[in-house]
Amino acid sequence: MRQPQDIVLLLKAAGEVTRMRLLALLVQGELSVKDFTEILGQSQPRISRHLKLLADSGLVTRHAEGAWAYYRLNRDKTSGALAEWLMEHLDTDAAELRRDLEKLSGLRAAQQERAAAYFATIAQSWDKLRSLHVADSALETAIVEAAGQEPVDMFLDLGTGTGRMLELLDGKYREGIGLDSSREMLSVARAKLDAEGIEKAQVRLGNITELDDYHQSGDLVMLHQVLHYFDDPSIAIAHAAHCLKPNGRMLIVDFAPHDLEFLRTEQAHRRLGMSQEQMMLWVRAAGLDVASCRSFPPARDDGLTVCLWVLETIKPNTTKGV
Ligand SMILES: C[S@@+](CC[C@H](N)C(=O)[O-])C[C@H]1O[C@@H](n2cnc3c(N)ncnc32)[C@H](O)[C@@H]1O
Repeated sequence: MRQPQDIVLLLKAAGEVTRMRLLALLVQGELSVKDFTEILGQSQPRISRHLKLLADSGLVTRHAEGAWAYYRLNRDKTSGALAEWLMEHLDTDAAELRRDLEKLSGLRAAQQERAAAYFATIAQSWDKLRSLHVADSALETAIVEAAGQEPVDMFLDLGTGTGRMLELLDGKYREGIGLDSSREMLSVARAKLDAEGIEKAQVRLGNITELDDYHQSGDLVMLHQVLHYFDDPSIAIAHAAHCLKPNGRMLIVDFAPHDLEFLRTEQAHRRLGMSQEQMMLWVRAAGLDVASCRSFPPARDDGLTVCLWVLETIKPNTTKGV
């Protein structure tokens, strides 16, 4: 239960038009201050003031990442219920709110186009680029182990890029599908799979946010170095979880938190790595649990730490809280 003054704080925070617009946007997922300023067309100090009030009241949580800060709706009992109530009763077709949501999807589309343009230019050299940041061999050995001993009927590699994971796990799966939104990355993957005679795998053009055709089809689902291209990685995780068979396993490989800000501008990264706490929050929201997590220190001084998370579906009798 909350003290009366806390409830007043919560209601005051929600009870203002700009802050209500911010909350309506946050229902769509995590957003940065920069996203808000672009969508609402208001100055950064003004938006930050509103966000601070929302954060102080407990309606939203803040996560600092390099020079950016991300906000997400707090899904706890009181704040979450208030935000849900608001969204149920708020007419998102009202002109201003509809415009905000349209601007958000325009922003997301533009960000995806920037990433696609980046991958179109580096497709041929991606396999070399990947190993610049990461100690490949120890990590890859761990990935093969984490894929488990059980036979895998269907392996889904989401954001397959040049198909390295299909190649690495060849022999483990009966059928492998690599999905990616970049034609250029896929053409490198196709050539590689053909050259190596990997016949059980095929690659397809597609978006991780449109996976209805793969509902509960994968025994093993992989997101390898993909999540940091999403503004809100929890969206990609939720879509990937949707593709997992009830007893399936998901592997996520991505960077631990870092402060290499230039990766946003030079290599289309959106997130500067992800922490254990964030991952726990995102996977639990997708109905998954972290079975294990291993970190791999960089091979070079200017490299990055990479983490391998093994995820499984939450069993009905699991009562671990987040
Ligand atoms: C850094 S590469 C990683 C490729 C591969 N998993 C690997 O580790 O070698 C990220 C890949 O994710 C793809 N990608 C990014 N956003 C995507 C989306 N929304 N849907 C499908 N693929 C996406 C990019 O096109 C790119 O090929």
